[in-house]
Amino acid sequence: MKRLGPVLLFITIVVLMIYKLQIPLSQQVNSSNSNTNHLIVAHRGASGYAPEHTIASYELGEKVNGSYIEIDLQMTKDGHLVAMHDETVDRTTNGTGFVKDITLDEIKKLDAGSWFNDMYPEYANEAFKELEVPTLEEIFQTFGNDANYYIETKSPIKYRNMEEKLLELLDIYQLTSHNDDTNHVIIQSFSSESLEKIHELNPNIPLVQLLAYTGKASISDKQLAAIKKYAIGIAPNFPSINQAYVEKARKSGLDIHPYTINDKEEMENALLWGVTGVFTNDPELFQNVLNTYNRMENVAGKE
Ligand code: G3P
Ligand code: CA
Repeated sequence: MKRLGPVLLFITIVVLMIYKLQIPLSQQVNSSNSNTNHLIVAHRGASGYAPEHTIASYELGEKVNGSYIEIDLQMTKDGHLVAMHDETVDRTTNGTGFVKDITLDEIKKLDAGSWFNDMYPEYANEAFKELEVPTLEEIFQTFGNDANYYIETKSPIKYRNMEEKLLELLDIYQLTSHNDDTNHVIIQSFSSESLEKIHELNPNIPLVQLLAYTGKASISDKQLAAIKKYAIGIAPNFPSINQAYVEKARKSGLDIHPYTINDKEEMENALLWGVTGVFTNDPELFQNVLNTYNRMENVAGKE
């Protein structure tokens, strides 16, 4: 008899999960998340379809209205900020070595696209072979100050004055002067020190604290309050979080943009849990999911 309780609980949970999965998104939406301007963050550009962190990838990502171009930053030997995820050029170019040991001239000679053609033949394109590693400055020159940028300071401890250089470029290209309501530029980092430094240098730039969990995520009120002192939001890895985590973050007043979601059902779940944006390699897919969600939310709001 004693064992009946847990068994019944287990059966109830399974039945509820099956029931939830069978209800289409349209019928699960309620109006509690209304007025949220969800962010579509094109992770390393539309990196599911073009070589990450190249102008081609950003162009594809930017085709999705209102989306943010996500840029990871590394710094060359001669102090130029370039778009690259890894500290070395090995994975995403035909070169080898650490970015910090290579000059901009040298990095510019590398082919930043052929690896993608080899790895993803279904999306291969001859034009990708010509692609270069872009500097942050070239990205700003290409997309201008109407575009939205979601920029990450990577390995800031290894790069002296990375934050100052970033802020200087944002200033030169007038990217933060009109940031008031629209948040054209968001800066993210796993390093709270880097974000706190930026916050001190310019408290008007919205910042997002990246979080990487192994296993199930949890966050205390104290941690949320500490982050809220300098950031407007958090960005945890999606597989580790659940609805309770999202609700707790939202309740604290922080935005939450999980990374990296490329699956339609996971995008739907994230929206239903209350996230305020999503990092994705497939921004067009998320836009479609979001459009459906917003339509249903409007209907729910009118009922
Ligand atoms: O910046 C969000 C997400 O991109 C963090 O992971 O490793 O892809 O930069 P990573
Ligand atoms: Ca990133």
